[in-house]
Amino acid sequence: MNNKVIVAEVLHEQLKNELSYDQILALLENPKSVDHGDVAFPTFLLAKAFRKAPQAIAGELAEQLTSEYVEKVEAVGPYINFFMSKKTISQAILHEALVADSHYGDSSIGNHESVPIDMSSPNIAKPISMGHLRSTVIGNSLGFILEKVGYQPIRINHLGDWGTQFGKLIVAYKKWGSEEAVKAQPINELLRLYVEFHERAEEDKALEDEARAWFKKLEESDEEAVHLWKWFREESLKEFNKIYTMLEVSFDSYNGEAFYNDKMDEIVTLLEEKHLLQEDQGADIVDLSQYDLNPALIRKSDGATLYITRDMAAALYRKRTYQFAKSLYVVGNEQTYHFKQLKAVLKEMGFEWSDDMYHVPFGLITKDGKKLSTRKGKIVLLEEVLNEAVASAQQQIAEKNPSLANKEEVAKQVGIGAVVFHDLKNDRLNNFDFTLEEVVRFEGETGPYVQYTHARAMSILTKAAFTFNPDATYALADDASWEVVKLIQAYPDVVQAAADKYEPSVIAKHAIKLSQAFNKYYANTKVLAEDGEKDSRLALVKAVAILLKEDLRLLGLHAPEKM
Ligand code: ARG
Repeated sequence: MNNKVIVAEVLHEQLKNELSYDQILALLENPKSVDHGDVAFPTFLLAKAFRKAPQAIAGELAEQLTSEYVEKVEAVGPYINFFMSKKTISQAILHEALVADSHYGDSSIGNHESVPIDMSSPNIAKPISMGHLRSTVIGNSLGFILEKVGYQPIRINHLGDWGTQFGKLIVAYKKWGSEEAVKAQPINELLRLYVEFHERAEEDKALEDEARAWFKKLEESDEEAVHLWKWFREESLKEFNKIYTMLEVSFDSYNGEAFYNDKMDEIVTLLEEKHLLQEDQGADIVDLSQYDLNPALIRKSDGATLYITRDMAAALYRKRTYQFAKSLYVVGNEQTYHFKQLKAVLKEMGFEWSDDMYHVPFGLITKDGKKLSTRKGKIVLLEEVLNEAVASAQQQIAEKNPSLANKEEVAKQVGIGAVVFHDLKNDRLNNFDFTLEEVVRFEGETGPYVQYTHARAMSILTKAAFTFNPDATYALADDASWEVVKLIQAYPDVVQAAADKYEPSVIAKHAIKLSQAFNKYYANTKVLAEDGEKDSRLALVKAVAILLKEDLRLLGLHAPEKM
């Protein structure tokens, strides 16, 4: 039930000999001004076939086109403008949306095929950064969006849990650390030990050798080394999980870099078999000049494999394990080059499915226009931000609705939701500034505003005791409701666009537009007036409530019924 599709069918009836259906569909435009109707068709392309001026063609054609879904057809210059029948369309759309309920906009395009989503992926013993937060919420939302169009998302936390830094950490811990200190504040203490190691290593070069020796032991599965590594990993995860719990994000897999330790040899063997490895000063590289890229460094001269080698093993493992339709990597745009190399190297190896791997990059969160540094104690910052957002929501609820029953619960949903929504509402590649006051406002383009609009729609429905009757006719023909109906009608396309572009902001923008249109409608219309159209207006309110709740769910937010 898409206006362009309807109009294309009507036009195709008349123009079968001149243009194909697809050509017609591609030519259709959405007029900028409502005075020009809902869909416009330019007639320039027909001039040759008809041997007439486009203006004349538009005039003649406009007379011949009719459909129960079109109220009026008007020629304006070379354009034919179509005014859809508000009544017929709203009737069909309201029925469709209320029958489907939260499944409105679902599709089966994904064919149940799986899509691994590499997301969050912080580094052990280091604070989770704002970038990791972005990856977490964008990846989580993409999971819901892809699921809605029929894919099976697999959320993977590709933890940074391997590397020479663990040798350093073990040395530092054994010399200057204690179990109690790590247990009390794992990330802060491990970070402190790491920093202390580097400070002392400036004077005492022998420390570096010790660290290398410990990392070697770790690689060779030395009991003490493995025990410490496991423990650092667990303690770090405990702290990361606090944030995941607050955000209500869960993962299907925590297979990080270390998981691929025993899968590296195969990668090197495969490269050797395909004669792709070249020696460069003792190291092994793969030439990528064909792709206009620098060579990929696969193995260092000491035999150690690298970040990219692990990602190659991970990609192959995911293909084998999940037979993915596509594989996403939600990672900041500073790693764009890495993912280009990764795809190129796999392509060189003959893995055609590397074309189905997509880096989904995003911009930075800034503070006063500057990059937020991830060094000291930022994990505290992140938890603090979430806690402060909840506190601020609590305060606003206390002012606006002091008698609300489950205040604590709602404050959490609103406060955390505000931070998440703020992150998702802009095109993901944009950098954006973070200011708490801005994030938790109940007005403007915020999560709380959308949640509040949804709660308002719910309270109208409760007050009117509306129940949907699938056999009843709900239809509206006025201009005010038409703006809302169009946003409901567009929903399946909006969801598909978000899935195609890997862009949750498409959903967030729809939620904002629908909220604004609905609030305007509500301000100018007596929804509960006792006339023949009351039930139709309530059906519209119901459709809005369904869609806002679904928009919020797709972004990873709750839709409280009261707030
Ligand atoms: N741990 C990495 C970092 O913090 C991100 C990993 C992204 N995922 C991947 N498969 N490379 O920079």
